[in-house]
Amino acid sequence: MVALMKGRSILSLLELNSQEVRKVLDLAIILKKETKQGILRPMLKGKVLATIFQKPSTRTRVSFDVAMLQLGGHALNLSVSELQLGRGETIEDTAKTLSRYVDAIMARVYDHNDIVRLAKASSIPIINGLSNSYHPAQILADLQTLLEVKGRLRGLKVAWVGDGNNVCNTWLIGASLMGIDISIATPVKYRPLKESMDNALRIAKEKGSKIEVTDDPEIAVNDADCVITDSMVSMGLDEEREERLRIFLPKYRVDEELMDKADPNAIFMHCLPAKRGEEVVAEIIDGPRSVVWDEAENRLHSQKALLCYLLLDEEEILR
Ligand code: CP
Ligand code: NVA
Repeated sequence: MVALMKGRSILSLLELNSQEVRKVLDLAIILKKETKQGILRPMLKGKVLATIFQKPSTRTRVSFDVAMLQLGGHALNLSVSELQLGRGETIEDTAKTLSRYVDAIMARVYDHNDIVRLAKASSIPIINGLSNSYHPAQILADLQTLLEVKGRLRGLKVAWVGDGNNVCNTWLIGASLMGIDISIATPVKYRPLKESMDNALRIAKEKGSKIEVTDDPEIAVNDADCVITDSMVSMGLDEEREERLRIFLPKYRVDEELMDKADPNAIFMHCLPAKRGEEVVAEIIDGPRSVVWDEAENRLHSQKALLCYLLLDEEEILR
């Protein structure tokens, strides 16, 4: 058996093919079951993950820390202001130094190019814990959640309503890889990245899945198995808040009327944090169709699986 994913960096999800994503999801489901039974295999004993955050985080920070701890390893939280990075040491010099101490780095950055530079200069796997362009760890958890609830991925339809942001860009990649149809409703000004669209269209063509982009949420949610939204004002965009809310509201708010236009068994997902009354009403995010807490929990399990595949040989994982 060959080591398939070991040593790879995950910056946008394009680094994995569909079989590899499926392997991560399958292992995540096994590890979730074991964790709930109180079985914690120390698969990453002696391994250290450094985590670096340029912006706030609750789920990403805690789930990566707990994942390492429960797998028998260790997570080292490094704040930018305490690193020499905060005093002007280059990303490259930081990457080369940390590569000599730790086994992997998870970083949350503003500019996606920062994580690309970190990965280029490192000799260890780098995981993007959210950049302004992509959020691959989130989409693995979302795919796991969808698979658990619906029992399959291929042939499902997902609707994205709202900002064509980092999470949306990565959903485009994840959906196309897994043969999921995706319909995106955003104002024209807030469409997903061209780079992400181009890649997703290329992959979807191979997989035979559909991608649709519209400015009409009702078209997007029609027959959808899952409706997803996210903040209308992502981190770092607070100056645009007023303009964004003027453009997005009320049309792109997920409410009961919009959810009722999706498939009768449609679920609602949101990566969190959420602003009730802006992108989604409380009745939906706190209602029976919402799976947001399972989705948040699955960050832990899917990241455990990802860390195992990036840090271990396949034989070590499956034995
Ligand atoms: N969904 C997500 O990444 O949450 P945090 O910003 O809390 O990490
Ligand atoms: N799009 C959001 C995701 C937060 C996890 C942001 O970038 O702020």
